[in-house]
Amino acid sequence: MEDTSSFAIRMEGITKRFPGVVANNSIDFAVRQGEIHALLGENGAGKTTLMKILAGLYQPDEGQIWIDGRAASVHSPRDAIDLGIGMIHQHFMLVESHTVAENIILGLDVPRFVLNLEKVEREIAKLADQYHLLVDPGARIWQLSVGEQQRIEILKALYRGARILVMDEPTAVLTPQEAKQLFNTLRSMVAEGHTVVFISHKLGEVMSVADRITVLRRGEVEATVQASETSRQDLARMMVGREVLFRVGKRESEPGDVVLEIDGLGALNDKGLEALRDVSLTVRHGEILGVAGVAGNGQRELAEAIVGLRPVTRGQIRVDGEGVTNRTPREVMDRGVAYIPADRIGSGLVVNLSVAENLILKCYRDPPICNWFFLDGDAISGHAQELVRAYDVMTPGIETRTRLLSGGNLQKLILAREISSKPALMVSVYPTRGLDVGATEAVRRLLLEQRDAGGGILLISEDLDELLSMSDRIAVLYEGRIMGIVESQEARVEALGLMMAGTAPEEDGGE
Ligand SMILES: Nc1ncnc2c1ncn2[C@@H]1O[C@H](COP(=O)(O)OP(=O)(O)O)[C@@H](O)[C@H]1O
Ligand SMILES: [Mg+2]
Repeated sequence: MEDTSSFAIRMEGITKRFPGVVANNSIDFAVRQGEIHALLGENGAGKTTLMKILAGLYQPDEGQIWIDGRAASVHSPRDAIDLGIGMIHQHFMLVESHTVAENIILGLDVPRFVLNLEKVEREIAKLADQYHLLVDPGARIWQLSVGEQQRIEILKALYRGARILVMDEPTAVLTPQEAKQLFNTLRSMVAEGHTVVFISHKLGEVMSVADRITVLRRGEVEATVQASETSRQDLARMMVGREVLFRVGKRESEPGDVVLEIDGLGALNDKGLEALRDVSLTVRHGEILGVAGVAGNGQRELAEAIVGLRPVTRGQIRVDGEGVTNRTPREVMDRGVAYIPADRIGSGLVVNLSVAENLILKCYRDPPICNWFFLDGDAISGHAQELVRAYDVMTPGIETRTRLLSGGNLQKLILAREISSKPALMVSVYPTRGLDVGATEAVRRLLLEQRDAGGGILLISEDLDELLSMSDRIAVLYEGRIMGIVESQEARVEALGLMMAGTAPEEDGGE
């Protein structure tokens, strides 16, 4: 038996039910003092729920918690802080108009007049230095990048005396370099005797940063393993419950004529600020052009400008040689452009319509679906049944409201509808975000098949592994500009990361 007093965290028999789902089912989870322990699992596996219970944000229906060997009752975030537990959430909770130092002391039980802000700033600077957390204590939150805001959340937790730090999917918003920097910080924290729980669904980073790994699947613990004694393949199998193929079989591409040509494009974001600056690129038939970048650098605006959903302030867009700049979405679609939006439920599908109805949203004006202004019911259901089968959409039936389908099946439904319209160009934004490994594989395979059938694809993604394995070339967007376009076979993660952070690639005398 292991000496249980060496556990910083011990959770036993934790069960948490939400309406219709058991998010945590009798979970046993133990983290040793001074280790980095990864909590790995697919979307919906129950990771966040388990850690919110530890942080006092949820109460478990059943189960016991021990902190540092002592039975603990964590009924509120306040209790968690008193026990030395700090959690950094996926969405930060900082006050935009306050300074770094003000945010860090916010909510502390210290009367304001006692506070010596200069002293606080000095202490923060010392902590920042100790843990390699580069920040300016006097800066205001709105001036900071997402990576900096995350460092402030960490400082805030440390300043409040957290010895156990829980980070929920911290690298989702970071460039590869920032992620590396974060890992250094985590390592220096455990070297000082802190304990870290690191939530992730990314196998590579879990393998590189964690001492031990607990895999959750469907609300249950699959296993706890030593990182040095496992492999990506093993972890993937535990996470998904079956063998996983990492490489989507990808053929050599055979690029044809240019399908999309963008020249000097400018566009504004929703706040009326410049979101795209002089963007030029091309996509060929039979080619996937990946677009990399930290979210919020113009990706969404680029996709919307192409498909006619956002006005273009300057520049030109041509599809198969024909100008489509500032045309309506309908006109752009009629030129053979399909759109797989990031937001499946808002703009991809009408959730209150049935599967069959959603599948004809694009072709309801054409025969055989519509003849002489009448919708043909048999043709509609035949069409729907065929697509549901061909694209392996799991649905009780074609009359089912789409609202009831899972994320992966919603995405397959959108792809079925878009690909069956035989588009010349597909603009695909974060197509696998939030999907489980199985659905991700299926979606990637469908996109590659579309490419091999001669379609051009603009693939916007925040997952570099996805871009490297899917794309033929990769363009990097930073603050609305293209920092560079590279062949994906020659692309290196470090080089892409530098461009994502705004550093132009080194001149190699090319072009
Ligand atoms: N506040 C909530 N209300 C209802 N259901 C929830 C809530 N939070 C999570 N769930 C559900 O619990 C399950 C586990 O979710 P979560 O812990 O967020 O998983 P993970 O963090 O591993 O992606 C999911 O099915 C999710 O939909
Ligand atoms: Mg989560």
